[in-house]
Amino acid sequence: MKFRKLGSSGIEVSEISLGSWLTYSGGVERQQAEACVRTAFEEGINFIDTANVYGRGASEALLGEVLSGYDRSSYVLATKVYFQMSDTDRGLSAAQIHKQIDASLERLRTDYVDLYQCHRYDDDTPLQETMQALTEVVEQGKARHIGFSEWPVQRIEESLALGGVARWASSQPQYSMLWRRPEAEVIPLCERENISQIVWSPLGQGVLTGKYRPGEPPPVDSRAASDSMSGFMDRLIQDPVLEAVQRLRPVAEGAGLTMAQLALAWVLRQSNVASAIVGASRPEQVRANASASGVTLDAQTLAAVDEALGDVVVR
Ligand SMILES: NC(=O)c1ccc[n+]([C@@H]2O[C@H](COP(=O)([O-])OP(=O)(O)OC[C@H]3O[C@@H](n4cnc5c(N)ncnc54)[C@H](OP(=O)(O)O)[C@@H]3O)[C@@H](O)[C@H]2O)c1
Repeated sequence: MKFRKLGSSGIEVSEISLGSWLTYSGGVERQQAEACVRTAFEEGINFIDTANVYGRGASEALLGEVLSGYDRSSYVLATKVYFQMSDTDRGLSAAQIHKQIDASLERLRTDYVDLYQCHRYDDDTPLQETMQALTEVVEQGKARHIGFSEWPVQRIEESLALGGVARWASSQPQYSMLWRRPEAEVIPLCERENISQIVWSPLGQGVLTGKYRPGEPPPVDSRAASDSMSGFMDRLIQDPVLEAVQRLRPVAEGAGLTMAQLALAWVLRQSNVASAIVGASRPEQVRANASASGVTLDAQTLAAVDEALGDVVVR
């Protein structure tokens, strides 16, 4: 496993990290989830991403239980705040940030997270209030660093212009061969500001592994076939997308790679990407994904990827 610097934080994160969104919030059996986390450690993955809202605390609670068996300094832990936790709890007000960090730390069974991320931008709270509260959380030692996820570029710029507040270490956007929006503005801005990308759904929720065939029902053991986990895949499992993904097969084979390795190496070709956050429902997937670390793609392969995917790419 190779490691990259997380912005200006001084933290080094594994190029492949373990996410816990739909999987460890209840989508995957408890034992399977635990086996995935244990396999991640065996593979040298040191970076784990969660959020308070994943299963409304369930994902954090599971991770807290499993991670309590590991030395706290051996892993980098990231969680998030913003989404609805109860009828009255949501957003990035100072009161919410202070309340939610304490609740997350309790569930995660730790005194601090390495990275506390704003899951989205909160239009109902003044930016200064959010930034001040995040700064206090850092000063209290409850979070070592802060990050944002999917903030509008203008809001990122405004936050950077504020004085006397903590600096961002990371940005967490959706980014994959199929979804390239961050390339237009977010990545160039973050490169200038020494903020790293830690990217979500780098496998397009599994679609980029090629296991979904156009015109065929999804494999029974896949996310797209799961009642509890398939709800966010509509755009991805359209036949034109699946047909384009199948055209990647010869590209991967030509490069001597699996489809998963090709997809993960593709996001990691960007030096501003510190880590690809990958979900996994089985330990074999964790191993397969970890093997993408250190893989480099030549110009010919990158061009072949673009040609294969054509106009299904969102830019
Ligand atoms: N900040 C945000 O707003 C945000 C949003 C979404 C996600 N995230 C973070 O990013 C993480 C990753 O996102 P994601 O889970 O949506 O997408 P992903 O990593 O692109 O896809 C993960 C899914 O793909 C399948 N898979 C993984 N490795 C595979 C392999 N080697 N071969 C075949 N199938 C494989 C598994 O599903 P099946 O086996 O069930 O098919 C797995 O659950 C999340 O867990 C979360 O931590 C953040």
